[in-house]
Amino acid sequence: MCGIIGYVGRQNAAPVLLDGLARMEYRGYDSAGVAVRSETRGLQVKKSKGRLQVLSDMIHGGADLEGCLGIGHTRWATHGEPNDINAHPHVSENGAIALVHNGIIENYLEIKEHLQKLGVVFTSDTDSEVVAQLLEYHYNECHSMLEAVGRCLRRIEGSYALGIICADYPNALIAARKDSPLILGFGEDGNYLASDVTAIIKHTRDVAYMDDGEIAVLTADSIDVFDDELVPVEKEHHQVDWDVSAAEKGGYPHFMFKEIMEQPEAIRKTVSPRLRDGRVVLDEFQMTAEETRDISRIFIIACGSSYHVGMVSKYNWERLLRRPVEVCLASEFRYSDPLVDDHTLVIVISQSGETLDTMAAMREAKRRGGKTLAIVNVVGSSIAREADHVLYTWAGPEIAVATTKAYSTQLVLMDLVGLYLGDLLGTVAPEEYRAIVEAVERLPEQMQGWLAHVEDVQYFASRYFNHASMFFIGRNLDYAMGLEGSLKLKEISYIHSEAYASGELKHGTISLIEPGTLVVALGTYGPLFDKFISNVVEVKARGAEVMALTTEDFREKMGKTADAVVTVPNTHPILQPSLGVVPLQLFAYYVALQRGCDIDKPRNLAKSVTVE
Ligand code: G6P
Repeated sequence: MCGIIGYVGRQNAAPVLLDGLARMEYRGYDSAGVAVRSETRGLQVKKSKGRLQVLSDMIHGGADLEGCLGIGHTRWATHGEPNDINAHPHVSENGAIALVHNGIIENYLEIKEHLQKLGVVFTSDTDSEVVAQLLEYHYNECHSMLEAVGRCLRRIEGSYALGIICADYPNALIAARKDSPLILGFGEDGNYLASDVTAIIKHTRDVAYMDDGEIAVLTADSIDVFDDELVPVEKEHHQVDWDVSAAEKGGYPHFMFKEIMEQPEAIRKTVSPRLRDGRVVLDEFQMTAEETRDISRIFIIACGSSYHVGMVSKYNWERLLRRPVEVCLASEFRYSDPLVDDHTLVIVISQSGETLDTMAAMREAKRRGGKTLAIVNVVGSSIAREADHVLYTWAGPEIAVATTKAYSTQLVLMDLVGLYLGDLLGTVAPEEYRAIVEAVERLPEQMQGWLAHVEDVQYFASRYFNHASMFFIGRNLDYAMGLEGSLKLKEISYIHSEAYASGELKHGTISLIEPGTLVVALGTYGPLFDKFISNVVEVKARGAEVMALTTEDFREKMGKTADAVVTVPNTHPILQPSLGVVPLQLFAYYVALQRGCDIDKPRNLAKSVTVE
């Protein structure tokens, strides 16, 4: 989704801005722009619909713009179609103020109408331009930029991360944040502003995270932060502990492929600090047996693939904890008047830690007394900072829009938390506990071994990539895993696909099966394998082409019914989806590759969805 970069220092700003924007391309966008200021040339604004390359070519890689202070933006359209005019930065009517904005200004129409009555002429259809015009209005009232920003923020409702430059303040950048991430970077040759740490990691790892309501003033040598009453605030510095190469392709053809291949290591990093002498140790989330018994209800809240992790975890947690677990889409939960009280444990799962619906759902749960535990990948993200407890997945930066290693690390971390709570409750037998821990310890190696031979999946993708529609079917954990397999395929290959609990097929969906329809049959869940085979036979009888996924134990049986079989190693049943999902990710990847799709940046999608 939209990306912001700002720079003030001693270098020419435009190339720095373009490089930062390029590093945020993965988030998904439809237009881009920069504004740079210099004493001699004043404010120079360039923007364009389409890929960043179009903008870069237009300004010759930044060489055409002069000035050591500037802001840049990649836009993912919400208000107003993607075009040159609606692209950011937006400039106020008198040309003195330029700004970039992430988020949504909810009362923009009301403010726009008010300003129009005063004679202000708007050029774009965006909510963001309203902030630029409102700022000019307040600046003309008080002649202090900081005060004008404060007044403006008191009037606007909604979410925002703002980067602002003003002609009267030639050496400063101003930033403000509410419900949309903004990071301050302290560099040697100047200071930085970004919505995503990947944009500035090349220049500095010394960062501070802005909090809601804060305003920052950046110059080449200083960053001053104020609260919403303009009282100075001391910010804590954080060191980002990964370097720029972690967010580069490193010889792989796509980030998605690289990230699929990184999964064994990401899982190892996520689990090994949490397994000590055969026990699960969660330093950041400790509960007593009594506190655990006090939990009467568990919610898992997330969006997209993180929600699918919740779907798998529901099966696993109910088995391990013998407590009801409800999985909710964050966008539904937040407006559902949810039944949360102080006996409720709310697990929030988010790779980015910035998904707005997930964030709002978590706040709602907290407001009602729920105890919140966030499973998050991005350190210092908003959800991580607001949750009562946070457990990080140590997947490292995930750049491809379609998540893989973040999903896998979330899944296994949820298994560890489930095991930890089940142990406290006494609902996991010691031998089961041991078996799961051992299986978790073996998992990275098993996955690595499997990833050394991906030819089967590659071959089947080349055989099936032309199908117009695909169905993923399975029971229990296989059904939950199928939801993710189907989403991966849809996201990056644009093939229509659905995932079904296979027992439910005959209640409607089977009418869609006709000769040649591709059914991806997921049969890795041992306890229901025979029941599942009956469903596979049902679709075969109606002419479906069946590509099956199963475990070594069931390969032979499956081979008697399916047209093609992919096998994964056996592990403990609760961990089987962790191995099973990998061929599904690769299948989607190779299908998309065959179809010539833009794998890392699929159309219409954003990596981190910071609007409702
Ligand atoms: C977007 C991404 C998905 C992701 C979802 C939730 O839709 O495209 O890949 O699963 O957001 O994101 P989160 O960062 O909260 O896990």
